[in-house]
Amino acid sequence: MTDKRGLFITFEGCDGSGKSTQASLFIAQLQQSGFTVTALRDPGANAISERIRAILLDRQHTEMSPWSELLLYEAARAQMVAQQIKPALEENRIVVCDRFFDSTTAYQGYGRQLDLQLVEAANRMGSGGLLPDLTCIIDADPRLIRKRIVKRLGGADRMESAGLAFQERVRQGYLRIAEAEPLRVALIPGDRSIAEIQRHIWQLFVSRFQRILTGRDLGEGEI
Ligand code: TMP
Repeated sequence: MTDKRGLFITFEGCDGSGKSTQASLFIAQLQQSGFTVTALRDPGANAISERIRAILLDRQHTEMSPWSELLLYEAARAQMVAQQIKPALEENRIVVCDRFFDSTTAYQGYGRQLDLQLVEAANRMGSGGLLPDLTCIIDADPRLIRKRIVKRLGGADRMESAGLAFQERVRQGYLRIAEAEPLRVALIPGDRSIAEIQRHIWQLFVSRFQRILTGRDLGEGEI
């Protein structure tokens, strides 16, 4: 990486927390404000990582070992970091990613209860040591989320089938991540209206990165 770099912002939360909706709204608001945004999802966002995503989320793969799962998430991420995130940051862009390594800590570390130190070591490999500048965790009660998911999808994918206890552990994982890294990670209450959550996130972004919005540190033409 060169000295010149953009901004890397990630969205996190349990299944159905509304984080993807909020990521999309945030991206749209950035674009309306004149920024060029690289929008990604993890796992996914390129041909190789999307194929890995399909393996991971295939409901028929119920026999997948938790370690295999962990390494596949990291493999998908490593490809996205090398192919998309690092080049975009070097071009001084704003990169917004729907999930990143905090998902692995929350889902594989806390949810699947794999050794946290090994998960963190794997995260360092998958992310190439790259840290988000800001991570927004949309926090919501899995029981309420579940009701919404069932209503919306009329079913559940492989991950969602893992059940309420799993999602509750994932949520606890996110709460611990937010507690441990208050400078990087913001915990956003997810029990408000979509518009209120969107405003909350935008205000947070503006207050943290005002210098970017005024175009002093990042070239206005480039972002
Ligand atoms: P998505 O629905 O938000 O795209 O995420 C797909 C599923 O993958 C979701 O259930 C969370 C799960 N996941 C992990 O278990 N570990 C990870 O590292 C990531 C990125 C996602």
